[in-house]
Amino acid sequence: MNQKMDASIRRVVLIGFRGAGKSTLARALAVETKWPVVSTDERVEKLIELKIAEIVDKFGWAKFRDFETKVLREISRKTQIIVDCGGGVIENSQNMEILRPQSLVVWVDAAPDIILKRLESNKERPLLTEAGWKPDVWVHYFRRKPLYEKYSDLRIDTGTVSHDQNIETIMKELRKK
Ligand code: S3P
Repeated sequence: MNQKMDASIRRVVLIGFRGAGKSTLARALAVETKWPVVSTDERVEKLIELKIAEIVDKFGWAKFRDFETKVLREISRKTQIIVDCGGGVIENSQNMEILRPQSLVVWVDAAPDIILKRLESNKERPLLTEAGWKPDVWVHYFRRKPLYEKYSDLRIDTGTVSHDQNIETIMKELRKK
């Protein structure tokens, strides 16, 4: 993980696989910091006026990623926010160059079997592959893992560590900066 050089952290950026618990943590961090949550998925949905699944269906993944980069550029101009990123944000290195300066980037992680259980009970997300949730998680989780690691300052585990403890860890890190 990277050591931060700049002293002033102006936003918290949550990255990590789908189902790892980014949105739950984002809401709790918003309460702690009094900073609002900005969700990249919600911003894309608002921009295109369609749900993520419909956007992917209509335009394909590559176009969805372009929309994602477009909203990230806007978000990167804002400070004192908690950014709840879509799980694939690390797929494009440019995205992380846009987001990283002056951010505390937190990798919200959990073991893939735990993630799989959470995803199987949620019907709204589009599959990354045609093959089903299991290959989706197993193939993409392990492929993305080094990227989440590369771009984060801190990793927290929502599968084995309590929610409150994770919030405390992040807040402690924020106060250090
Ligand atoms: C994606 C994760 C989703 C959403 C889109 C693509 C991914 O966000 O951006 O379906 O590539 O992992 P969440 O991580 O919030 O589910």
